[in-house]
Amino acid sequence: MSAPALDRPAAGSPGPAVDPAALQQQFEATIAADHRIEPRDWMPEGYRKTLVRQIAQHAHSEIIGMQPEGDWLLAAPSLRRKAVLLAKVQDEAGHGMYLYSAAETLGADRADLTDKLIERRQKYSSIFNYPTLTYADVGVIGWLVDGAAICNQVPLCRSSYGPYARAMIRICKEESFHQRQGYELLMTMMRGTDEQRAMVQDAVDRWWWPSLMMFGPPDDESPNSAQSMAWGIKRHGNDELRQRFVDMTVPQAKVLGVTLPDPDLTLDEATGRWRFGAIDWSELQRVISGDGPCNAERIARRRAARDDNAWVTEAATAYAAKHA
Ligand SMILES: [Fe+2]
Ligand SMILES: [Fe+2]
Repeated sequence: MSAPALDRPAAGSPGPAVDPAALQQQFEATIAADHRIEPRDWMPEGYRKTLVRQIAQHAHSEIIGMQPEGDWLLAAPSLRRKAVLLAKVQDEAGHGMYLYSAAETLGADRADLTDKLIERRQKYSSIFNYPTLTYADVGVIGWLVDGAAICNQVPLCRSSYGPYARAMIRICKEESFHQRQGYELLMTMMRGTDEQRAMVQDAVDRWWWPSLMMFGPPDDESPNSAQSMAWGIKRHGNDELRQRFVDMTVPQAKVLGVTLPDPDLTLDEATGRWRFGAIDWSELQRVISGDGPCNAERIARRRAARDDNAWVTEAATAYAAKHA
């Protein structure tokens, strides 16, 4: 499937001769009216490319994100915890699939996107390059990482591209369950032994700052943000979303009884918002550019999954051809 081209007639138009300026105008009017752009509609090439990049990165993050928690499936402390974790990790696989499907509506090829991920030509969320050292990390990922994902993703339910927005509605419902299961696990541990409480605090200490980095660099250093907002792909800047996450999380930390590892965290009485300390952006840069604690391991495992399972695709393709 090729990308919609300028000379292709817009949906419902009578003939092939359509004025490019009129197509552009129609696109802009759709965005301005807060209506959705659908796969059949004409769209500027930059809009299509930005969406493919963002949706692919999002899909890759869901799939790579199965690994840090998947590591604990065989070491879950009870049958109940195992069932919950299994359901969560399977949800993340489903999120990846919805999102690859959304990218396909823009003319992208799923296998090609996977190759780009494995060859490091497309990125995924920096957060999944950190290791999960204890079972408390499973809880903290649910609480903080899925919590940050919810802040990021709820506004995407109103994204201007229809298939992406609709995928996000389903995904966000499941992310809420992910956050709750994480918080419930941590609450249980905090009511347990001193050793368990120490495990939770240690996990919070390690995941707090990387969770804040999930929102990306500050707005003035985020080159694509302004255009994405103008196109209605993104609805809020990175800094606003990060602030919402902090405001939502600080009271939850209090109820849980953990200390967030930031001595500068103070309530701004005038605005009701929590001020937080400086983020180490060099760490984010390092992890994004491939030098985080687990980047090589994550990609190696994804590569092995693609290569080891290639025979399934081959067999299914041969079977389909035989019955065509
Ligand atoms: Fe997800
Ligand atoms: Fe999730």
